[in-house]
Amino acid sequence: MTSPSAPLTILCLPGSTREGSYNRHLLRFCAAQLRDLGASTTIFELRDHPIPLYDGDEEKEGGPPENAIKLSDALRAADGLLIVTPEYNAGVPGVLKNAIDYVSRVRDAEGETAFDGLPVGLASASPGRLGGIRSLGHLRPILVQLGCIVSPLQACIGGAHEILDQDGRPTVDALAALLDESLRSLLRLAAALKD
Ligand SMILES: Cc1cc2nc3c(=O)[nH]c(=O)nc-3n(C[C@H](O)[C@H](O)[C@H](O)COP(=O)(O)O)c2cc1C
Repeated sequence: MTSPSAPLTILCLPGSTREGSYNRHLLRFCAAQLRDLGASTTIFELRDHPIPLYDGDEEKEGGPPENAIKLSDALRAADGLLIVTPEYNAGVPGVLKNAIDYVSRVRDAEGETAFDGLPVGLASASPGRLGGIRSLGHLRPILVQLGCIVSPLQACIGGAHEILDQDGRPTVDALAALLDESLRSLLRLAAALKD
């Protein structure tokens, strides 16, 4: 008798720490969708695990901060990563970039970081019309540079203040379908790359 394979585990990381964040709201909906698709999910909240601004002198003295190591460990334990992030001044929010920078400094015995070979899915939300697409345009090459395998499909939800319902679901059918296909694509990627 064959035993059913373990569910894929996806770490969900929001790029906003704001209490009423549209991106955290959308991320929670995405996590629920991933679970409906058979995955297991963990949300890593940067608001609960603040990572100090990168400082090379502090790193030299004490190594990477505890929460950067926690995030690195959580990524290593996961089969894939989903990032849902706002766009700040047409780019990646500092809190997210700083977390990525510090995690990129946590290396294992082979010198690899948690990003090496990690499947990643991306989504963004903004009250603005572009939906944060410029943030993902900057984030993608950063993650590729770190060795992540980034899904080509992504969903950018514009007008988020109007179109996300109470569960964080986009009420515009085309956007909900794009988000669904993006999440499925992340799971296909994670399944293909799972050891
Ligand atoms: C410093 C800063 C810069 C911003 N720049 C952009 C921007 O370039 N494009 C955009 O669509 N929204 C921009 N916004 C608005 C954010 O999309 C909006 O505050 C959004 O609600 C933040 O995401 P959150 O709700 O998940 O916290 C900016 C907000 C801040 C605080």
